[in-house]
Amino acid sequence: MNTDFDYSHPRTQVRFGRGRRDETGEVAARHGDDALVVTTRNAMQEAGFLDDVLASLEEADVSATVYDDADPNPTVANVVDCVETAPDAEIVVALGGGSPTDVAKAAALSLAVFDEPPSIEDVWTYASGEKRPEEATPLVALPSTSGTGSHVDPWAVVTRADERAKVGFGGDALVPHDAIVDAEILDEMPADLAARTGFDAFCHLNEAYVARGSDALTDANALRGMELVSRNLRRSVEGSSEAREKMAVADTLAGFCEATSGTVATHALAHAISAYEPDVAHGDALASVAAEVAAYNVENGDDETKRRYGEIAETLGFPVADRKLDAPFVVDTFREFVAEFDLDASVGDLTDATPEELAENAAEHMRLVLRNNPVEVEEDDLVGIFEDAY
Ligand code: NZQ
Ligand code: MN
Repeated sequence: MNTDFDYSHPRTQVRFGRGRRDETGEVAARHGDDALVVTTRNAMQEAGFLDDVLASLEEADVSATVYDDADPNPTVANVVDCVETAPDAEIVVALGGGSPTDVAKAAALSLAVFDEPPSIEDVWTYASGEKRPEEATPLVALPSTSGTGSHVDPWAVVTRADERAKVGFGGDALVPHDAIVDAEILDEMPADLAARTGFDAFCHLNEAYVARGSDALTDANALRGMELVSRNLRRSVEGSSEAREKMAVADTLAGFCEATSGTVATHALAHAISAYEPDVAHGDALASVAAEVAAYNVENGDDETKRRYGEIAETLGFPVADRKLDAPFVVDTFREFVAEFDLDASVGDLTDATPEELAENAAEHMRLVLRNNPVEVEEDDLVGIFEDAY
C-alpha cells in the first residue's frame, strides 16, 4: 500500500436523488443566466429528460441553447460545432453519458480560453496535451449512464478522426462544478448499455487499485466501488432501480479513483480499438482486453500487484484460497465476469486492425496511461497482449 502520496479530492458538489434533475435551473443560475445544454441525439429527448431540464432552467430564468449532436465516442469536430451553437454561453449543462459530458467539458474549456469559436486545430492544442487547461466555463453534469465517472473527474476523452487518435486530457479546470445524479434517468438504460457501462466503472475501480498512481485513500474508494459492482451489476442489468442507484454510487467512487489514481493499460488498449473503430462502444473495447492485461500484470508484476489482483478476484466472488494466484486464474476470473454480461467479444470480433497497428496506436496516443500501468509495458508487449486477446 502506498502511504507516501499527495491526494487532491475532486471539488464537484454532488447531489444524489431521484427527480433532482428539477434542481438543474437553481444550480445553473448560480453561475450565469445563459446555458449551453449538451446531449446525444435521441435518448434524453425520447424519455422527456431534456424537456425536464429545459423547464427547470426556464423556471430559474436561465436561457438555454441545445447542442444535441454529440456522437458516442465524440470527436473534436463535435466540440467545435457545440461551441459554435452558443459562443456566449456562461454555463454548460451536460445531460447524458460520458460522450456528451466530455463534449461539454471541452466546450466549457473552449468558451473560456478562445475569443472566437475555435477550429479543430485550436481544440487539439489542448486535447493533444500541448497546452494544459487552466480555466473553463462552469459545468453542471447530469449523468445518464454509470459509467465513465466523467461527472466528477477531470478528464475529457475525444477522438480526432483524421489522425485516428482517441485521447484523454484534462486537469482540475475540467472537473464539473456540480453533478446531479438522478437515478430516474439511469432507469432508462437498456440492459446492454447498463452492462457495458457498468463494466467500464468496474475497470476504473480495478485499474485505479493496481495503478502505479494508487494511494492508500484511493484504495478505500476502489474496494468499496468494486464491492458495489459485484453485488449490484447483475441486478442493475436486469432492471432493478435499487441496483441502479448503487451502481451510480460505484460510478461516482470510480470517478474519484480516476481523478486520484487513474487507469492503466486496459484503457490504453481499449482506446486504440475505438480509434480504429469509432462505432465500438468503450465498454466493449475494454471487455475485449481486460483479462489479457490483468494476466500480463499478474505474470510480470511484483508481489503487491499479484496480491491486489487476488483481492479483485475475491471481490468478484472468486476465492483465491483454493487456487494459485497465477495468470490463468486471473484470466478465468475476468473472462467469466465478462461472459456473464455478454461482453465476451474478442479484439478480432471488434476490428480488422492488426495487433501491431493497435499496439502502435496505443503506444503513440496513450503514453501517460501506459506509464501508470503497475508493470512496465513496451510496444512489443502490447502486441503480445493484443495477440492473446484477438
Ligand atoms: O445517441 P442516443 O440515441 O441519444 O443514445 C445514447 C448514447 O448515444 C444512449 N444513452 C445514454 N444514456 C441513456 C441512453 N439510452 C437510454 N437511457 C439512458 N439513460 O447510449 C449511447 C451511448 O452513450 P455514451 O455517452 O456514448 O456512453 P458512455 O457513458 O459509456 O460514454 C462513453 C464515452 O465516455 C468516454 C469513452 O471513451 C466514450 O467516449 N470516457 C470518458 C471518461 C472520462 N471523461 O473520464 C473515462 C472513461 O474511461 C471513458 O473513456
Ligand atoms: Mn473508461
